[in-house]
Amino acid sequence: MPTPYPEVRVQRPNRYYAELLLEDYAGQVSEMTAINQYFHHHIVFEEKFSDLAELEECISIIEMWHLEMLGETIRLLGVDPQLRTLTNNKTTFWCGNYVYYGNSVCDRLAADIAAEKSAIEQYRKHQQLIRDPYIVEMLERFIMDEQHHLQLFTDAMNKYCK
Ligand SMILES: [Fe+2]
Ligand SMILES: [Fe+2]
Repeated sequence: MPTPYPEVRVQRPNRYYAELLLEDYAGQVSEMTAINQYFHHHIVFEEKFSDLAELEECISIIEMWHLEMLGETIRLLGVDPQLRTLTNNKTTFWCGNYVYYGNSVCDRLAADIAAEKSAIEQYRKHQQLIRDPYIVEMLERFIMDEQHHLQLFTDAMNKYCK
């Protein structure tokens, strides 16, 4: 996407905002899950669907940029960006079973589409709860990428799963 990413900054430290962003960082619906799901799909598609393999790799790398910016933001908010959530005073580490590994091209692409839709929904929800304009702007920029990913996965689905 041609639109640059905004500078990573926050108005002031805020533990509650950090806890919300930890869900986007390393929760069930998160950048960590997206990175690893698309990375797995990249590897399993390599043999027979090299165009899809490349698409999954490219999108996985973009999700890693999101992960980095979220991690830096969480640190600026005053919380150690370990790969875990702290929701409801409970520590839950990110887990490889959050990933939808799948069995076929079409069920994997359907899961990737669902992941992008869930990400957009969760970012919108968090935008409503966060009053820091720098964070809201960053999430808006992420949503722009996720909408693009949703389009790319949908195009792939239309090509391979009619
Ligand atoms: Fe993302
Ligand atoms: Fe995405």
